[in-house]
Amino acid sequence: MRRVPDEPASVVVLVSGSGTNLQALIEACRDPAFGARIVAVGADRDDIEGLARAERAGIPTFTLKVGDFETREEWDAALAGAVAAWDPELVVLAGFMKLVGPVFLGLYGGRVVNTHPALSPSFPGMHGPEEALAYGVKVTGATLFVVDPGVDTGPIVAQTSVPVEDYDTVETLHERIKVAERAMLVETVGRMAREGFTVEGRRVRFNA
Ligand code: GRF
Repeated sequence: MRRVPDEPASVVVLVSGSGTNLQALIEACRDPAFGARIVAVGADRDDIEGLARAERAGIPTFTLKVGDFETREEWDAALAGAVAAWDPELVVLAGFMKLVGPVFLGLYGGRVVNTHPALSPSFPGMHGPEEALAYGVKVTGATLFVVDPGVDTGPIVAQTSVPVEDYDTVETLHERIKVAERAMLVETVGRMAREGFTVEGRRVRFNA
């Protein structure tokens, strides 16, 4: 990851939903010692609380909907261009419910991270908490990973575990995962910003 010395790392965050992970990052960035600054928030849909949170915090936003483009490839290239306009050092997908494509990864591969509400490599995809519950695991959690072309398959930066309780529903389990996920995201993005990191094969290491 390229770092500009003595400057907070510039971060673009992409969201699709309620944006509680984004909110945790917004609050962390208020402390100059955190080492990162959110320069823009992007979304793939309108009228979401994630965008409203960014607007309330005075952070510029942009929206690019897949349906407004002829092809998925064109959307991917437009998304890459919209992010590149902010020249971020790190891109954080925080509940962004789309797979980024080859143009995006060509520009940002190795410095785009995503958070997934399961302990990878278990339960990739859109239904991590539901599948963990259905499988009957006693421990699940969340994973922050460096995005690659697969579905939740990239090199793991951090994980946090969450016990499954006997009477959990998908909703109660996902809510508890999200509490742990937000703490992991803030702690890890802060370290990535302050220390830098290196990806070698599947191993991700902080530089400090
Ligand atoms: C998070 O659990 C994320 O991992 C999953 O969707 C949730 C998004 O939550 N993909 P929020 O929009 O940050 O509140």
